[in-house]
Amino acid sequence: MTSTAWTGITELVTNDPAHPESDGSPLGIIADAAVVEEGGTITWVGAEHRVPDTDEQRDVGGRAVIPSFVDSHSHLVFAGDRSAEFAARMTGAPYDGGGIAVSMEATRAATDEELRALVGARVAEMHAQGTGLVEIKSGYGLDVRNEARALRIAREFTEETTFLGAHVVPPEFRDGAGRTEYLDLVCGDMLAACAPHARWIDVFCEPNSAYAFTGEESERVLRSGLAAGLELRVHGNQLGHGPGAQLAVALGAASVDHCTFLSDADVDALAGSATVATLLPGVEFSTKSPYPDARRLLDAGVTVALASDCNPGTCYSSSIPFAIAVAVRDMGMTPAEALLAATAGAARSLRRTDVGVIRRGARADLTLLDAPSYLHLAYRPGVPIARRLA
Ligand code: NIG
Ligand code: FE
Repeated sequence: MTSTAWTGITELVTNDPAHPESDGSPLGIIADAAVVEEGGTITWVGAEHRVPDTDEQRDVGGRAVIPSFVDSHSHLVFAGDRSAEFAARMTGAPYDGGGIAVSMEATRAATDEELRALVGARVAEMHAQGTGLVEIKSGYGLDVRNEARALRIAREFTEETTFLGAHVVPPEFRDGAGRTEYLDLVCGDMLAACAPHARWIDVFCEPNSAYAFTGEESERVLRSGLAAGLELRVHGNQLGHGPGAQLAVALGAASVDHCTFLSDADVDALAGSATVATLLPGVEFSTKSPYPDARRLLDAGVTVALASDCNPGTCYSSSIPFAIAVAVRDMGMTPAEALLAATAGAARSLRRTDVGVIRRGARADLTLLDAPSYLHLAYRPGVPIARRLA
């Protein structure tokens, strides 16, 4: 195995404040640093003047290095185009989840090869913008064959796959008893076919959408997933106040995602729990909605993550630097809090300790910034300064 030393790092964000050479802040910054990796694992982190001998030395030329972003929420397995829906929203049309059926039709019609190519291109787009690990959900198949197929293809790209058969009730089940029949299917045959390809189960818990699921329906889906050995994540409190956040806490979900509309009781419940609040600023941007109040969550002691939610409906952006810039500009996060949320916070939401941190033994997911400091992530919005190093 080849050992490689990355040198010339003027500012290394480790997220490891316990490192003796770091500034002790939550970002654990080491000035004039080096990182050594071997076989995809970090083997040494410290001041450059102490760097051990290695097979290769690579100088990054006086730039900042950060842990690669962890994108803990994405829906990359889809075909078709919904740009007209986005354009309509910009002139006042509301988002209600109805467009998911449009992506479902196109996704069902795509071949395996077409879907694989689409997912691969989107994952490559993420890597090119500094993201390392990515979570990928199903949710545009909405029948047994197509949900299982989406997860099989997603698994080719990541171990963090999420079964989202309970995204919306598909059109063919919307009349009469159809809704209950669809839930029976999701919790029965569909779950059985999907569980072997998924780590997580998720549900669009949103009583404010006619297409998504109530608190009771969501609880049934999540409990079925738990019984099948899956871990829990929840889409909650996106379009209005609702039961998602407290349900996620009550069932011990790793994360509740969106959290745009939270009551004081929701914030209190999250603060007293291990459930991460994942914020997805690209969604509010692309649906012209109010941004979630990250400051309120942080001040209450809630662990916050930032992710892209890259999907064809509410946010077709795979850019974590964009999410960071919005979070800093409009959600009350400091640049340090936003970066921590997009790395260590998102790792926590996936119950991972080997990513989102630059520490001996962690995965060698390093992101180079074409800038002297991480502050430039929010300071230079829209400028492609971040790319994956390893
Ligand atoms: O996370 N809210 C539910 N699901 C996606 C949007 C899906 C779509 O409109 O295609 C989201 O925002
Ligand atoms: Fe989502």
